[in-house]
Amino acid sequence: MTKKALNRNLHAAKDAKKDEFYTQLADIEKELKHYKDHFRGKVVLCNCDDPRVSNFFVYFSQNFEQLGLKRLITTCYKNQSRDLFSQHDSEHAIYLEYTGDRNNNRVPDPEEIGLKHLKGDGDFRSQECIALLKQADIVVTNPPFSLFREYVEQLIEFEKKFLMIGHMNALHYQEIFKLIKENKMWLGNGFENGNAFFETPGGEQYGGGVYDPETGLVKFRNVAWFTNLEHQRRHEELILFKKYNDEEFPNYDNLDAIEVSKIKDIPIDYFGAMGVPDTFLAKYNPDQFELIGIPFGNLGKEIGVTRNHRGRTDIAITKDGKSRCPYSRIIIKRKS
Ligand SMILES: C[S@@+](CC[C@H](N)C(=O)[O-])C[C@H]1O[C@@H](n2cnc3c(N)ncnc32)[C@H](O)[C@@H]1O
Repeated sequence: MTKKALNRNLHAAKDAKKDEFYTQLADIEKELKHYKDHFRGKVVLCNCDDPRVSNFFVYFSQNFEQLGLKRLITTCYKNQSRDLFSQHDSEHAIYLEYTGDRNNNRVPDPEEIGLKHLKGDGDFRSQECIALLKQADIVVTNPPFSLFREYVEQLIEFEKKFLMIGHMNALHYQEIFKLIKENKMWLGNGFENGNAFFETPGGEQYGGGVYDPETGLVKFRNVAWFTNLEHQRRHEELILFKKYNDEEFPNYDNLDAIEVSKIKDIPIDYFGAMGVPDTFLAKYNPDQFELIGIPFGNLGKEIGVTRNHRGRTDIAITKDGKSRCPYSRIIIKRKS
C-alpha cells in the first residue's frame, strides 16, 4: 500500500471512530418508558447496532413481550467481531431477527435469535438495509453523528416513525430545523439532568469533566433524543410569570424580536417574536408556541435578519454603546 493510501485509510479509520459512541442501557430505559403505547404490534428496527453488543437490542429483546412487539430487526455495520468497539474490519455484516420468547423462559435465547448474513457492509443506505427499513414501523437507535442529516432524510423519505439520539448542533442544520418547525420531528424527553453517557474507544483523550476513569464513560451535555412519536411532555405548558419591560428584554439591532436570555424569563404578556436559547426546544409545546426560525446564516436571511457589525447574517444587540451577538438562539412566538 502506498504511503498516501495508508494515510487515507488512517484518516477514514479516525473519522469512523468519531462515530463510535455506545449508548447505556439505563439511558435507553429512561427515554423509552415514555413511549410504551407506541410499540404494541409493531416491527422495530435498530439499524446502526451490532446486535451482539448494542443496548438497543438488549432493551427491545428483553422487553419484547412487555411492549407487545411483533418483530425486532437489528443490523450491524461492517464489523463481525464480538468486540464492543466496531473495528470495521469486515466488508460483510450480519443482522438479526427476533420474534419473541418461544420456550417461555422469559429470556431471548441464542436459538430464538435468528442471526443472518448481509451481502454487503450493513450501511443503512444500502438496498438490502432499505428493504429491512421498509418492513419496520419504528426505527430506534443512536446513528453515526457524522451521517445524521442523511439518516434523518432517509427516515422521512420512507415515512417511518423514529426515536434516536443526535447532537444538539444538528438543530442548526437547515433541513433539520425545517422538520422541527413543521412539526415533523421534535425532541424527546431527554437525558437525566441533560447528561448523556457513552462508552467510546479512547475515551481518555477527552480529559477531565468529560471522561470518567471510574466508569470508563464519556459525558456529553449537548446530545438529545429526536423523535416523531408523540409524548406527554411535548404538550405540557411552560409556566410563565415574568412581565415584559424593554430594558430587560431589548430588541435586536437587525431583527424585529426581543432578546430573552433565559427560558424561564419568557414574558407572560409578550406576543411578538423573541429570541431564546435553543435549549428551549426541550420544553417546546406546539400548542403554546410557534417556531419562527434560526437567526443566522441562510435561515436567518429567510426571516429577515440583516448583516450585523461583524458583517455576518446573525442577530446583534447594542447595549451601553457595545454590540454583541447572543449565542445559539432560536426565534419563537407565543400562540395567543
Ligand atoms: C453512535 S454509534 C452508536 C452505536 C449503537 N447504536 C449504540 O447506540 O450503542 C453509531 C454506530 O453506527 C455505525 N455506523 C457507522 N456508519 C454507518 C452506516 N453507514 N450504516 C450503518 N451504521 C453505521 C457505527 O459503526 C457505530 O457503531
